Amino acid sequence: MSSKTAQRQQVTTSSPGKLILFGEHAVVYGGPCIVTAVEQRVHVTAQFNGVGTLIVNAPQMGIKNYRKELEYLGSQEMPKQVSFIEALVKRFAQKYGLAQGLDIQTKSDFSHTFGFGSSSAVTVATVKALSELYQVSLSDKELFDLAYRAVLDIQGVGSGFDLAAALWGGTTYFVRGAKKVQPLAISHLPVVVAYSGVKADTPTLVRQVAELKRRRPQVVNSIFSKISQLVEDGKKALQKQRWFQVGELMLENQKLLEKLEVSTLKLEKLVQAAVAAGAYGAKLSGAGGGDCMVAVCPPARKHLVARSLAKAGGTIMEVKLNAKGVLCQKN
Ligand code: PMV
Repeated sequence: MSSKTAQRQQVTTSSPGKLILFGEHAVVYGGPCIVTAVEQRVHVTAQFNGVGTLIVNAPQMGIKNYRKELEYLGSQEMPKQVSFIEALVKRFAQKYGLAQGLDIQTKSDFSHTFGFGSSSAVTVATVKALSELYQVSLSDKELFDLAYRAVLDIQGVGSGFDLAAALWGGTTYFVRGAKKVQPLAISHLPVVVAYSGVKADTPTLVRQVAELKRRRPQVVNSIFSKISQLVEDGKKALQKQRWFQVGELMLENQKLLEKLEVSTLKLEKLVQAAVAAGAYGAKLSGAGGGDCMVAVCPPARKHLVARSLAKAGGTIMEVKLNAKGVLCQKN
C-alpha cells in the first residue's frame, strides 16, 4: 500500500472490556460460552509519524516512547504490555503493507490487573484504528481474524471470546474463533462484580487445564460437556431474564470450575459471601486463579451483596455491562 492511499492522519478508537458469564475453559475446546462487554474501555489513538518506526505510549502500563523499527516488528525483546499492539501491527503490515511508521497511544478506563481483558480490548481497538487510518474496508469477521491471529502469536492459546466482546459488544453466545457469534438481546443484568485482589495469568491456567485433560481425559471431557450444557441453559435463562435460574446455573458452573482446579480459596470465599448475602448465585469469571468473580442478585439486595463481598476481602467493581463494541472517532 502506498502512502498516497492512506488518507486519514489520525484515528481514535475504543473497545470495551469483558466478563465471561458461562463456559470458560470449555470454550477453548470448542464448546460455547457467554460473554458480556463491560463499559470500561481501552482507547487507542493511532497516527502516521513519517519515520519507519512504531512508537507506543501506554503511560498507565508504564510504557513511554517504546520504539521498534518496522522491519523488526515481532522480533527481539518486547515488554508484555506492548506485545499485542506490536503483533497486531506486524500482522496488519504483512497483509496490507505499512507505508510509514505509526505513533500509537493507549489510555485505559481500568487497570490491566482486573482481568477485564485489556489486552483483547487494546488489540481490537488497534486493528480498528489501523483499518480506518489506511481506509481498508474490513468486515467485523476480518477484523476479528487479524486480532485473533495477533493474540495467538503472543499467547499461543485462547478462544478469542474476549476479542468478540471488544469487537461486537453486548452480550454474546460465542464459539471459538468466532465460528458463532450470536448477540443475546438482554436489556440489563443484575450483577455485582468483585476483584479477588490476585492477578491471574490466563495462558498458564489454560495450559494447566490442558495438562489435567492429558492426565484425566475422561473426567475433563465430561466436565466440559456439562459446562457446555450449562451454557445452553444459561443462554435461555438469560434471554428470559430468569435471574434466579441464572444464579443457580452459575453456582453449578463454579463447582465444575473447582473440579477443573482453577478456582481459589479466595474466589470460593467470595462466592459464598455473595450467596450468604442473598445473591442467587455467583462464580469466578475468566481463567480462574484470581481476577474477578460475578454474582447475580435481586436488585434490592445488591448493596448487601456488595457489602458482604467487601467484608470477605473483595474489591467491588462498578461495572455497566452490555457495553457497545469497538467505536471509532474519526479525527
Ligand atoms: O482470564 P480471562 O478473563 O481472559 O478468561 C479466560 C477464559 C478461557 O476460557 C480460560 C480462555 C479463553 O481464551 O477462552
